[in-house]
Amino acid sequence: MIYLDNAATTYPKPQSVLAAADYAAKKWGANPGRSGHTMSIGAAEEVYRARRAVAEFFHASGPECVVFTLNCTHAINLVIKGILNSGDHVVASCLEHNAVTRPLYALSEKGISFTEAQVFAGDHDATVDSFRSALRPNTRLLICTQASNVLGVRLPVERLAALAHQYGIPILVDCAQSAGVVPIDLADSGIDFLCLPGHKGLYGPMGVGVLVTCQGEQLSTVIEGGTGTSSISYEHPSEMPEHLESGTPNLSGIAGLRAGIGFVNAKGIERIFRHELLLVQTIYDHFSRDPRIQLYTERPNEKYFVPVLSFNIKGVNSEDIGQKLNTMGFAVRAGLHCAPAAHRFLGTLEQGTVRVCPSVFTRAEEINRFVMAVRKLVVFYEKRGKQLPNP
Ligand code: ALA
Repeated sequence: MIYLDNAATTYPKPQSVLAAADYAAKKWGANPGRSGHTMSIGAAEEVYRARRAVAEFFHASGPECVVFTLNCTHAINLVIKGILNSGDHVVASCLEHNAVTRPLYALSEKGISFTEAQVFAGDHDATVDSFRSALRPNTRLLICTQASNVLGVRLPVERLAALAHQYGIPILVDCAQSAGVVPIDLADSGIDFLCLPGHKGLYGPMGVGVLVTCQGEQLSTVIEGGTGTSSISYEHPSEMPEHLESGTPNLSGIAGLRAGIGFVNAKGIERIFRHELLLVQTIYDHFSRDPRIQLYTERPNEKYFVPVLSFNIKGVNSEDIGQKLNTMGFAVRAGLHCAPAAHRFLGTLEQGTVRVCPSVFTRAEEINRFVMAVRKLVVFYEKRGKQLPNP
C-alpha cells in the first residue's frame, strides 16, 4: 500500500516515536502527578519534558502555555467554548474544518453568531480585507485555519492576527495541516490560541492534541476535574496548564509526541516541507497536462500552499476514484474531508475531491506510480463513457 493520506494522519510513524510511546508505557506506567511514588513522578517528568519540547518548538514563553488535549478538535472546542458568550460574534474563514464550524453552529442556539470570510488563494490582501469587512462591533474572536485541509491553501495568519489585535480581538489558528510542516512562532506571529494535532505533521501517535496559549487562564473551563493539584478544593484550579487539563492524560501519546518533535527537528522542518512540496508539484504538473483531470488551485508554491492537493477525474464521483485507487494499492482520502464550507466554496459539495498528501517518508518513485495509476483510471472511466463534457 502506498500511503498518501498524511493529511488525515501521518503513516508510518518514525521508529523513535513508536519506541518512545512503548517505553513510556513500560517504564512510567503510573498516573503522572497523582501519587508520590517514583513511577508516578517519572511519568510526570516525562509530561513536563514533552510540554517543554512543545513550548520550544512553537516559541511559547514557557511549558505552562502548553495544554495537552485529546486532539486538535478538543483544543479548538476549549477555546471557542471557553471564550464566547451569548451575543458574541465570530469571524471564521470559509475554509474551516468541522472542528470549527460545528461548535460555532452549535453555539448559535446560545445566541452566538458567526460570519464566514471569503479566502482568496494567492491574494492575501483580499483575504485580509474580507475578514475586515466581516468584523462587527460584537466580534469577540477571529478563527482561521493556517492551511486548508482540502486545498492546501495557506492563510496569512500573521496579518489576520494583526488585524484582530487592531480591534482588541484574539485569534485562534487551527494548525492541523501546518504544525510540523511550516515553522510557527507563537511570539512573532501574534497567534493567541494555537490548536494542533500531535499525529499529523509532528508524527506523534493519535490521541494527543495541543493548545498552545499564554492566555489560557482567561478561558472558562469546559471540563473540570482532577488535576493532581489543590485536591482539597471543590473549585477547579485557575493555574495553567491544570486549568484546562483534567483527568489522566495519554502518557504514551505525549511521550510519542515529544519523540515526533525530536524527529521533525532532526530532519529539519524546511527540508521536510521542500520534499513534500516537490512531490505535490510533480503530481500537479502531470495532472495539469491532462484535460480530463480537474485541479482546483494554482500550481502549489511555498508562499501560498502546504503540500496537500485535491483533484478529480472529471465527471466521476471522488469516492469511486478513492475506492478504485484503494484496490490498486493507494491510500488517499476522497469525499468531503469534514470541511463542507470549503467544498461549497469550490463547488464540489456533490462530487467531493480526491485528496493526496505525502509525508517525509514518501518517495518520488511512489508518486510516479500514483500518477500512472490515476492515468489508468482516467482511461478506464473514459472507456466506460463516464466522462462528462468539460465544464
Ligand atoms: N481532519 C483530518 C482530515 O482532513 C482528519 O483528513
